[in-house]
Amino acid sequence: MYLPHPAKPAVPLAHDGLRPATRALDAGLRPDPVTGAIAPNISMSVNNVFSPGAGTFSAEGADLTAQPYLYARWTNPTVRDLERRLAGLEGGEDALACATGVAAIAAVFLAVLKGGDHLIISDVCYAGAYELATRVLPGFGIEVTAVNLSDLDAVRRAIRPNTRLIHAESPCNPLLRLTDLAGLAAIARAAGVMTSVDSTLATPVLTRPLAHGIDLVIHSLTKFMNGHGDALGGAVIGRSEVVSRIRSQSGVYLGATLGAQNAWLILRGIDTLYPRLRLASENSLTLAQWLEGQGAVSRVVYPGLDSHPQRDLARRQMDLGGGMLTFQVADPSAMAVRMAERFRVIHYAFSLGHQRSICVLIPTAEIQASTYRMEGAALEEYRAWAGDGVFRLSVGLEDVADLRDDLARVLG
Ligand SMILES: Cc1ncc(COP(=O)(O)O)c(C=O)c1O
Repeated sequence: MYLPHPAKPAVPLAHDGLRPATRALDAGLRPDPVTGAIAPNISMSVNNVFSPGAGTFSAEGADLTAQPYLYARWTNPTVRDLERRLAGLEGGEDALACATGVAAIAAVFLAVLKGGDHLIISDVCYAGAYELATRVLPGFGIEVTAVNLSDLDAVRRAIRPNTRLIHAESPCNPLLRLTDLAGLAAIARAAGVMTSVDSTLATPVLTRPLAHGIDLVIHSLTKFMNGHGDALGGAVIGRSEVVSRIRSQSGVYLGATLGAQNAWLILRGIDTLYPRLRLASENSLTLAQWLEGQGAVSRVVYPGLDSHPQRDLARRQMDLGGGMLTFQVADPSAMAVRMAERFRVIHYAFSLGHQRSICVLIPTAEIQASTYRMEGAALEEYRAWAGDGVFRLSVGLEDVADLRDDLARVLG
């Protein structure tokens, strides 16, 4: 006999009037009706029993989230708990969890675009997304244009009759340049174009893109959402009809499904999303203001600073400044070596959004040669934000005085 997963009655996604910080702990979860357990269980089973006739062989057209959960590449009870929580946090109808952030981006591109379609992508965004769009998709007959999405007139000019999707990032990695999401959504809607926003750096604590009219929110859950640097994950959130299309078309066929253990770790990380982002934002503002006063630092970019070039948009669109800042110095290569040797608290490493502070140099010449390959006005615009290179500092939860001392140690 088929027994439904006891802890998971078909509760509606939680848009039930709870405030966001409460929803981060609560959305979609109820104590286990059998044991009373408050913390969610992990369901590790790859397959679940079902009554003959209830199953289906193809993902096409099936509701892959309906119980019984047949096979874990389609979905799994623990992964579904995470998807409910993510949908609740972003104010979406449904969510699809993926193995990584890049898998979520690829799932959106492959489900929404086909040969002959046109994609507009932010000319500065996570390198993996940019390279997937500009190097891989054209091989499938998809046209791709990179556009500075902080310039809405440039967006209007770039839209073609075959444009299907605009992919943005706000704040974008690594410049921390913002896109006016409501403005972008209005232009796209009027042209019948879908929008996706990688909100990894913002998290729903800072900005909820769906509330600004964006169609799909994407996260690398590896970063702030999990927040502990111990699990890879990704997600897409939006209207049920669109998410279920992405789930069956590329979630299942791409095969980059999130495992139950990582889903559980990310759920636990999200429990503390709000307090973590509040403290990271507070620490970041303190450090950004302090860095602005240091003679060795020529430029600081932080959305919470009055000096951010899009300060008004930041105030309108972001509830907090977030945990990411960049700064520039005269000899970045020498400084990077000093950091790797002398930091006691901050880690010189890639990635971001963890509980421990992380800093890395993104040299302009290198990332231009490897990834963006800009010329002319676009390159000038990049250099106006980044100079010869930015130190991308992901501010963690340490005592801010220790972080300041670490930076003082290398700045001299
Ligand atoms: C903004 C952004 N999106 C997506 C990704 C990719 O995430 P993942 O490593 O989980 O695939 C990253 C990784 O740094 C990122 O910074």
